[in-house]
Amino acid sequence: MNNALVQVHDIASLQAACQPWRDAGERIVFVPTMGNLHEGHLQLVDLAKQHGERCVVSIFVNPTQFGPNEDFDAYPRSQEKDVQLLAARGVDLVFVPSVETLYGNSVSSDLHVPDELGNKLCGANRPGHFDGVATVVAKLFDAVKPTAAVFGSKDYQQVQVIRWLVSHLSLPIKIIAAPTVREADGLAMSSRNQYLTNNSRQQASRLYQVLSSVADELQHGRRDFSALEAQAITVLNKTGWQVDYVHILSPELLTPHEKDRHFMIFAAAYLGVPRLIDNLKCTISPQSKNRK
Ligand code: PAJ
Repeated sequence: MNNALVQVHDIASLQAACQPWRDAGERIVFVPTMGNLHEGHLQLVDLAKQHGERCVVSIFVNPTQFGPNEDFDAYPRSQEKDVQLLAARGVDLVFVPSVETLYGNSVSSDLHVPDELGNKLCGANRPGHFDGVATVVAKLFDAVKPTAAVFGSKDYQQVQVIRWLVSHLSLPIKIIAAPTVREADGLAMSSRNQYLTNNSRQQASRLYQVLSSVADELQHGRRDFSALEAQAITVLNKTGWQVDYVHILSPELLTPHEKDRHFMIFAAAYLGVPRLIDNLKCTISPQSKNRK
């Protein structure tokens, strides 16, 4: 049987609900979200429940991580359904603050992610985005005071930003990265997938296919990273995508070396209205052959 789900909107109620758990020595594991929940989010909850006795989820569409021409107002909101899904998954508490509760009357980012981390990949096309993510997650961590927090590897750069954040603020919070949850055809689940039309939905799994074929080329010995990236961009552009980037980097998000055994392949592209992102890890197997 599930515990009853507590829903709170302000920080005093949040802390009043969490303190008895802390006093009883229970570990609180936190899953921050912007709502409009899908199976990808819910599997973060499942993982959180393996790492502690209590699971707290936040639903907050954070204005500071959206650019002026982005979809903050149109971002899909479905709070009632979200709360039902969280209750069915055995979440203990859902925190749904207002913008005023988290930001008072100063809606701006007060943390700056180092440029070498925040300005590449999605940060290059979305200036200030990761400052907004770091700012809101710092506020949420301060409110919830969890022992651990779970983030999805679909947003790999975001996980790196959060790891920077906990180290920068010396927070005693363990960061757990969860695998990307995909649809049957490989498309990474995302709240923005619902903007896809029927036609573009059929096309959408190509992003994952292109990442997989880059991984395959790496596996077969190709190390001409720029040419591989350009090839992937050409395939996507020819099939109706508008590509922001395809990049091959090291797992630390640095320039890869020919002799590396671990690569990360990243892509972000528009398919009509939505901008979709995905990434794939490629570990070179010892028996991989050079394709020349
Ligand atoms: P949101 O996009 O709602 O995602 C919340 C969490 O779910 C993030 O950690 C994200 O990586 C994870 N997630 C989304 N789709 C996933 C999938 N297909 N598989 C696995 N995990 C997935 O990311 C944010 O919100 C915000 O930036 C936030 C961290 C809440 C700060 O505002």
